[in-house]
Parts: sequence; C-alpha cells; structure tokens
Amino acid sequence: MDLSGSDSKFSFGFGCSHASSMSPTPRIPIADDSINLQVDPSFRSSPATFSPIPLQLLEQKVAVQKEEEETPKKKDEKEDEHFRILGHHMCLKRQRDCPLLLAQSKHPRRTIVDTDLESRRAAVRAWGDQPLHLADPDIHEIMDKEKQRQTKGIELIASENFVCRAVMEALGSHLTNKYSEGMPGARYYTGNQYIDQIENLCISRALNAFGLESDKWGVNVQPYSCTSANFAVYTALLLPGERIMGLDSPSGGHMSHGYCTPGGKKISATSIFFESFPYKVNPQTGFIDYDKLEDKALDYRPKILICGGSSYPRDWDFPRVRQIADKCGAVLMCDMAHISGLVATKECSNPFDHCDIVTSTTHKGLRGPRGGIIFYRRGPKIRKQGHHASHCDSSTHYDLEEKINFAVFPSLQGGPHNNHIAALAIALKQVATPEYKAYVQQMKKNAQALASALLRRKCRLVTGGTDNHLLLWDLTPL
Ligand SMILES: Cc1ncc(COP(=O)(O)O)c(C=O)c1O
Repeated sequence: MDLSGSDSKFSFGFGCSHASSMSPTPRIPIADDSINLQVDPSFRSSPATFSPIPLQLLEQKVAVQKEEEETPKKKDEKEDEHFRILGHHMCLKRQRDCPLLLAQSKHPRRTIVDTDLESRRAAVRAWGDQPLHLADPDIHEIMDKEKQRQTKGIELIASENFVCRAVMEALGSHLTNKYSEGMPGARYYTGNQYIDQIENLCISRALNAFGLESDKWGVNVQPYSCTSANFAVYTALLLPGERIMGLDSPSGGHMSHGYCTPGGKKISATSIFFESFPYKVNPQTGFIDYDKLEDKALDYRPKILICGGSSYPRDWDFPRVRQIADKCGAVLMCDMAHISGLVATKECSNPFDHCDIVTSTTHKGLRGPRGGIIFYRRGPKIRKQGHHASHCDSSTHYDLEEKINFAVFPSLQGGPHNNHIAALAIALKQVATPEYKAYVQQMKKNAQALASALLRRKCRLVTGGTDNHLLLWDLTPL
C-alpha cells in the first residue's frame, strides 16, 4: 500500500463496537487526510452492529485541551489510540457520549469495548500463529498428497527439479512481507537495508556462479519468471511491432521467443506485441540448420536474434549464431533456461562468450526458486572487424543495463519477491561448488544412459542422442 501520495483516502480492516454517532470533536481538518476505518465483515465475531469510525489526522494543537475542561473528557482522551502512519500522527477517537451505554451503568462502555477488542485481538494473534494443518486443513491435505506424488513417483520432466531445504526455508519466510520496488540503494519504500544486502549478495553470487566479471556483465535477479524476463528484454530494446527471430516452438524453441501457429494465431504476447519470424531444425536430422538460419536472418533482419530453447538436446554453436547476428546487425540473446546448470559448470558451450544478453529460469537446472534472471553486457563494446553494426551498436559502450532494469521495473513488474531472491542467492551459492558440478556431470551421464537404453530398444531419438540433460524421443511412429 503506497500512502506517499497526497490523496491518502484509504480503508483499514478495523473493528469497533461503538455506535455510529460520533460526538463532534473540535479539530482542524487537514485536506485529503481523512481516513475512514471500515469494518471488514470477516472481522466480526458476533452479529453486533459495527459502524465505520471516521478517523481524522489531528493537528498537534487539537490534542492540547484546556485544563479547565471536564476531567472525564480528558481521561477519555488518554484512552484514545495514537499512532503514526508514514510520519502522520493519527488518533483513533473513542465514543464518548453514547446515551444508551451511559444509561446502563456508570462505566459500562469501557468494559464492553475492552472485552470485545481483546477477543478480536486474541483471534488475530491466533491466526498469525496457526500452523497450516490447523489454519487450512483442506489446502494442507492437498499439499500433502502432492508431496507424496512428487516423492513416490518417477519425475522425468526435463524442466523440473527439487529444491533443497534451505531454498524452501527462504521461500516460506518473512521476506515475503516486504515491499522493495526499485533497485538496491534506490527503493521506493523505507526499511530496505537488509533486502538490499540480500539482493546485492544474490547479484554477486549470480555473476560468480557463471564466472562473470562485474565490469563486463550486470544482472537483474528480479524477474518473476523467465517468460517475463524475456519479455522485459524485448520491451527494453524494441518498439512495438519490431522484429525478433528465435527457434520455432515445434522445433524446440520456447513460446516466449514469439510463437505463431501455422494458421497464424499469435500465441505468446511476444508475437502479439512484436513481429516474429522463426528458424527451424532440419526435419530429417533434428539439428539446427545454421545455414538456413543465416539466410532467413539476412532477409528478415531481426533486431534481436534469440538462441536457446526448451527441447533441443544438442549443444548450441554460439560462435556461429554470433556471426549471423553480426552479419544481420542483431543483438544476440540466449535463453539458457534449460542448460544454465551446464553452462555454470562448463559442461556445455558457453553463451556468455558470444551473446549480448543471457536470460534463464532459476528453477530448472539451477535448483532454485521459480523465477527468471537477465544477464546483460556492460562496459565498452568489443568490436570485431568486418562485422555490421548491430541495432544497439551506435555507441562505444553497451547501454543495456538501464533499459533492461527499467523494463523489469517499473514497466512490467512491481515489487520484487524478496523471499525468492534470497532463495535464489542460496541456490547460486550451491551452483558455484564442486558438489554441484558433480551433480550436473551425473545428470548428463543419466541422460546418456537413458538415451542408450532407449536406442538399444530401437526407439528413435531426435538427433540420435543427447549432449545435455534431456532427450527427445520421437513418438510419431508409435
Ligand atoms: C527456454 C525457456 N525459456 C523460458 C521458459 C519459461 O519459463 P517460466 O516458466 O519461468 O516463464 C521455459 C520454460 O520451460 C523455457 O524452457
């Protein structure tokens, strides 16, 4: 909730058992600062009638009452609740002269208010402290079944993984409570000193995990997913309708690289807002046809050329796509979502050696929380002789950082998910260990063992095998 604007009319879920008629209190109203405390119906524990309590910001002098004013009134004022919101002094006035209540006894109002308020406070405290199985048995039971399903079955989905306990702990932590729109050191909310530390640590671990120097590469760890990370890159660099070229979805590319059906239906927002023209694998071999890609790219002249995909079982020829991007003047982007674990451990060729921008999911091979990440080049450009200037090549330095960060926030996202960023930092710390390299090497061996077993049983694998963690089994003959 942003209360920093001048027009701060808002409602709180607040309960009160007073009658609605408030005695007029001498006060000086402050323009646009009147606040109405509304009763949230779910807050009521009894059918008693609750009415909204108009709440006003009081100026200091209002609180100063003359000595000679009646003592009960003064006493009542002490009972008023004073608090501050975003630096504004606020006062929750209590009902003073309800004739009905006064008629009942000398001080019945206090008793009723306190009992009621106390029981509601107790209820709120109890909600806050309840474990899931008590707070919501229905959800708890379904979650438990899903846990059994995950642990008792065999999961062979190449895009999924199991996070470690530490990642899970960070995900389910108090970090979810904090708003921190902006970047470390430049947030829109106060109280972000620790969130800044977490995000900065995550950034330095991301660079470290992929062996990148901070003067040559920057990284944004805020995207909620890889689809939104990719869209942020397009938003940063393209005007609506400008051109991108990525691997066709039926050839193993991802929809966020701009998919249209053969009938022309635009499936992803990428193809709705930008123009996309895909390249394909050779239908006979299953390998990417780089020569055809070059021909297409030179005709189409995309502003961004995308490599990387969702179901391509072979290593990418990054030097070759770099050459094509340079020839047609495109920015080269790799979506390494599926192979980021292999990239980090140098178990496949390295997109960072050749690309301008590298995006990834964080929840596949990296074993982190669900999310996206964008690496972008910074600093002076390395110019190679004989290469055409790319669309973003008008200066001697990369200008990707500001554009990409701005596209993530405020263009496409709001507050970053700080629990996810902490969880990602934990995962990236593990990615940089020798144990993680051993894990990735074993994963490759497992994929190759499965490929060999299937080939022995005369199954047809697209491209005849795998260089990475996934295989593509051609089921069309079945
Ligand atoms: C290459 C590639 N890019 C992007 C995505 C989308 O990731 P997310 O689900 O985080 O949006 C995927 C997901 O499978 C993918 O394989």
